[in-house]
Amino acid sequence: MAKHVGILTAGGDSPGLNAAIRGVGKAAQVVYGMDVIGFRDGFRGLMQDRVMRLDGPTLSDILTRGGTILGAGRDKPHRMPVGNKLLDMTDVMVNTYTRHHLDVLVCLGGGGTQKNALRLKKKGLDIITLPKTIDNDVAMTDTTLGFDTALGISTEAIDRLHSTAHSHHRIIVVEIMGHRTGWLALGAGISGGADVILIPEIPYDIETVAKAIRQRSREGKQFSIVALSEGAMSNDDVKAVSAVDDQKKGAARKGKSAPDVELAKLEMRLANRTLSLSKRLEQLTGLESRVTILGHLQRGGTPSAADRLLATRLGTACARLIHEGVAGVMVAARGDEVEAVLLEKVAGQRKTVPLDHPWIQAARDVGTCLGD
Ligand code: F6P
Repeated sequence: MAKHVGILTAGGDSPGLNAAIRGVGKAAQVVYGMDVIGFRDGFRGLMQDRVMRLDGPTLSDILTRGGTILGAGRDKPHRMPVGNKLLDMTDVMVNTYTRHHLDVLVCLGGGGTQKNALRLKKKGLDIITLPKTIDNDVAMTDTTLGFDTALGISTEAIDRLHSTAHSHHRIIVVEIMGHRTGWLALGAGISGGADVILIPEIPYDIETVAKAIRQRSREGKQFSIVALSEGAMSNDDVKAVSAVDDQKKGAARKGKSAPDVELAKLEMRLANRTLSLSKRLEQLTGLESRVTILGHLQRGGTPSAADRLLATRLGTACARLIHEGVAGVMVAARGDEVEAVLLEKVAGQRKTVPLDHPWIQAARDVGTCLGD
């Protein structure tokens, strides 16, 4: 009997999702004769049983399209906003799975999705995931869908910022996504030749950054590009976070919560860190500084060739694994091969940039300041 496959895309979208849906869907139908449906808007669509038939015509002409034809969402099955409450809706999702006689549910997503998929696995569902995020922070896989495209976009942005920074003898601080990891800022910073790269894994000293920029001025280079990962923190930010953490722990011991005003101050400080860095660098160097926040531009548009290839490799391998009866795993990229990794080994792990990573060494070796 034909196997029944459901697919959903969860978390933030990223280029390459449609290529992966196509890879899973075409191989599942054409090679293995399976039935494939999609759920709209991530786990919410699974809860609400909002289905899209993924037949041949629907899977055609989507390889190069950005975003996801299924829609995406950040909802968590066990904390789903329903009315004005957060409810555990996992059992409702199990019912949808059963009602459609699914043999497997394929979840395409980042770190949060891996955790949510494991929750559904623990409820007895057969789940397979694919790693997707521009942040490249999913554990146990060489890379993730969308990272290469975002890397290209951020690198091109840095290239373009170079010429205007040069003309006006300015510092340009360019904020790059990546959540709490620095893969994207580091990769784009190296590829775009940023003079300073600041990532969450290496807390930075603002004086060190200013010194590197002043040194460039002395060498006759009257502009500098600072590639700042959105999660990067100065040493002072780190201290502020740990002070609030201590307050939280102290308050928890007394059965209270930390003072709201302190939490709000910290939130404000972190929300403004890119602007604050730019202002402070102006004061410390005497150069004019501007900020560019790349934001969701990095997630938009058509996927790169490398992401289309990765999506097709992982997607078709996923269909093969389903055919072989494998479930409860993430389809990971390992060199030219793919590997089925148990969800238990992936969920809750974040792949940060190791401090001895060759990219860090390479950046240092070409004289890039990493702020430490
Ligand atoms: O995880 C991908 C990502 O783009 C992060 O880099 C960023 O911090 C976050 O999503 C932004 O999320 P949202 O699209 O929900 O604003």
